[in-house]
Amino acid sequence: MEASAGAAYAAGLRVARVQAVVAPVSTVTIQGAFLLVLGIGGARVAAGAISVGDLVAFIMFLFFLVLPLGQAVNAYTQVQAGLGALHRIEEVLAVPAEDASDRPTVTVAEWPAPSAPAVPMIEFDRVGFGYPGGPAVLHEVSFAVPAGTRTALVGPSGAGKSTLLALVERFYEVTDGALRLGGVDVRDLPRDVLRAGLGYVEQEAPVLAGTLRENLLITAPGAAEARLRAVLDEVNLGHLVERAPEGLDVQVGEGGVLLSGGERQRLAIARALLAGPPVLLLDEPTSNLDARNEAALRRAIDAVAVRRTLLIVAHRLSTVVDADQIVVLDGGRVVATGSHDDLTVTSPLYRELAAHQLLVG
Ligand SMILES: Nc1ncnc2c1ncn2[C@@H]1O[C@H](COP(=O)(O)OP(=O)(O)OP(=O)(O)O)[C@@H](O)[C@H]1O
Ligand SMILES: [Mg+2]
Repeated sequence: MEASAGAAYAAGLRVARVQAVVAPVSTVTIQGAFLLVLGIGGARVAAGAISVGDLVAFIMFLFFLVLPLGQAVNAYTQVQAGLGALHRIEEVLAVPAEDASDRPTVTVAEWPAPSAPAVPMIEFDRVGFGYPGGPAVLHEVSFAVPAGTRTALVGPSGAGKSTLLALVERFYEVTDGALRLGGVDVRDLPRDVLRAGLGYVEQEAPVLAGTLRENLLITAPGAAEARLRAVLDEVNLGHLVERAPEGLDVQVGEGGVLLSGGERQRLAIARALLAGPPVLLLDEPTSNLDARNEAALRRAIDAVAVRRTLLIVAHRLSTVVDADQIVVLDGGRVVATGSHDDLTVTSPLYRELAAHQLLVG
């Protein structure tokens, strides 16, 4: 981190140094050329070798020549800067695409199948997982999320909660055991079909520079104005539109800096809602929210929970208490499963988490 900051500082200094040299040198060269033409030409006119008209013509030529030369130097530096930026883009383009056909996929007419209430929507079956090249972070994780219910994941930091959500999204492949969604092994589902059925709100909800409208339209490009406003009201963000004269076209700033942390998270929920997925994965922010924001977030979650299956990584007591089922994770293992009331009695770790770690809004 410090090394990168140092390198950026050094690069900035180099750019400043080059600019400091280039600008005066080109100006002096231009002025010098004029002086030279004027001096020699003046002497020649005085000696009667050329006419005043010739001298004026020369100065005009020089004038026409110098301007494009200056522009050419400018263009060169801009091309260099552009190439630097292009290099960054190429790095991204060079990342291999996720292979959609790594295993013959089953043809699913409709996923998740609407008529299978007995089949859990999400089922972890002795799932083991380690990040590529790293140690195992999940061991024999087993639990099921019935369709239309809310399951909360709790556990100490680093327990593997976000990793579980990444596996459901199939950002990584399960190393051991099986993960089934609606009864189908995730490895058999084409990624686009799988993800069309999932909404994912990340822990640090990414908001892009641009307007509120642009941030919402990412998941639902054709959505009508009225629908956008309805969704914003649903997650208690209606005030953003009302207080700004631009309405939905109000800027949110680079990375959403013009919004509060709670508002960013709710905007991400709104985005997930717009796509209308039957399954929603929510990674709650760890940051503390004030009571009003907390209540707003809770109402937003209640709004999304209607007719949906929810798997929430919970950092808030209120979220856990509302859940149908709580899964307690520690060191990549499921150590207890049950309701809030059960777990307060049966699980010492849960009691500890509820007392000290979960945020009370
Ligand atoms: N991209 C990654 N590459 C390698 N290891 C990772 C990666 N992401 C997480 N890990 C490791 O996996 C383990 C579980 O991380 P995870 O993000 O799932 O924790 P978490 O339970 O979500 O924690 P928190 O409550 O702090 O968000 C940690 O030991 C972490 O260091
Ligand atoms: Mg996490």
